[in-house]
Amino acid sequence: MESPFKPNILHGKVSLITGGGSGIGFEISTQFGKHGASVAIMGRRRGVLDSAVSALQSLGIPAVGFEGDVRKQEDAKRVVESTVKHFGQLDILVNAAAGNFLVSAEDLSPNGFRTVMDIDSVGTFTMCHEALNYLKKGGKCRSSATGGTIMNISATLHYTASWYQIHVSAAKAAVDALTRNLALEWGTDYDIRVNGIAPGPISDTPGMSKLAPEEINSKARDYTPLYRLGEKWDIAMAALYLASDAGKYVNGTTLIVDGGLWLSRPHHLPKESVKQLSRAVEKRSRSGPVGVPNRSKL
Ligand code: COA
Repeated sequence: MESPFKPNILHGKVSLITGGGSGIGFEISTQFGKHGASVAIMGRRRGVLDSAVSALQSLGIPAVGFEGDVRKQEDAKRVVESTVKHFGQLDILVNAAAGNFLVSAEDLSPNGFRTVMDIDSVGTFTMCHEALNYLKKGGKCRSSATGGTIMNISATLHYTASWYQIHVSAAKAAVDALTRNLALEWGTDYDIRVNGIAPGPISDTPGMSKLAPEEINSKARDYTPLYRLGEKWDIAMAALYLASDAGKYVNGTTLIVDGGLWLSRPHHLPKESVKQLSRAVEKRSRSGPVGVPNRSKL
C-alpha cells in the first residue's frame, strides 16, 4: 500500500530497531528506510538478520544487521555503539523485540514469567539506557539540534486482563510505565521524545501465528469494531508519524492501533430493540412518581 507520507520525512536520520528482522519490526524498518532513514536492525538469529538486510538493501535502503540479545547489557551496548560507528549517529530507537507464548498462570513457571519480563521490560530499559548518550540533545552523534526519539512497541492486553497472557500483560504494563517515565525525565532533560504503539491483532506476524490459531483469529475479526485484522503497514505508519516531525509535540503517549478492539464488548441487544426498550422504560417511569416504580405497569 502506498504511504501517505512524503518520502523524505526521515531524511538523514539513523534508526536502530530491535526485533527489526521480522514481523512488525521488519515493516517498521522497511518504511523508515523508504522514508529516508538508515536502518540498523538487532536480533538473535543471524539468518533472519541477513535476509532482512538483503531485502532492505535491494530497496536501496542503507541497512546493517547486528546480532544480539536485548537481555544482555553487553549486547545492547555493543549494538548501539556499532550502529553509531557504522552510520555516524543515532536518532531513533525502536524497541520491537518481544517474547510471548500462551500459557495459563497455573502452568507458567516463575522462570517463564521472568523470561518475558526480561525480554520486553528489562530489555527495553537496557536499550534505552545504552542509547541515551547518543540520543541526547546536542550530542555529538545527533543529526539535529533537537533530541532523538524512542518508540516502544507495547500491547493492549493489560488494559483489562487477558487469558493466558499474565507474563506479557505484566511486561507490557511495565513497558508503558517506562514510556511515560522516560518521556517525563528525558523529555525535560534532553528533549528526547518517548512514545509507544500498542498494536491489536496484526495479520501475518509471528505473534498472530503463535498466539491466535485460525479459529481465534476469525473471532477477533468479529469483535473488532472495524471488522478486520490490522496490517503491519498500519503499525509502521503510526511509527512514521511518531518518529517524524508530524509527531514533534507528542511525548509520553502510547498510540493504540487496534481498530478499536480493546473497547469491544459483547453486543447484547440489536439497535432496534434498544430504541423500543429505552422509550418504553421512559414512558413507564414518567407515568409513576419519580423513584417509585409503578408496579401495576411493570
Ligand atoms: N509455555 C510455558 N512455558 C514456556 C513456554 C511455553 N510455551 N515457552 C517457554 N517457557 C518457559 C520455559 O519452560 C522456561 O521456564 P523453566 O526454566 O521454568 O522451564 C522459560 O520459559 C524460558 O524458556 P526458554 O525456552 O529457555 O527461553 P528462550 O530464551 O530460549 O526463549 C521465549 C524465549 C520463550 C520467549 C521464546 O518463545 C522466544 O524466543 N520468543 C521470541 C519470539 C516471539 O515470541 N515472538 C512473538 C512476539 S509476540
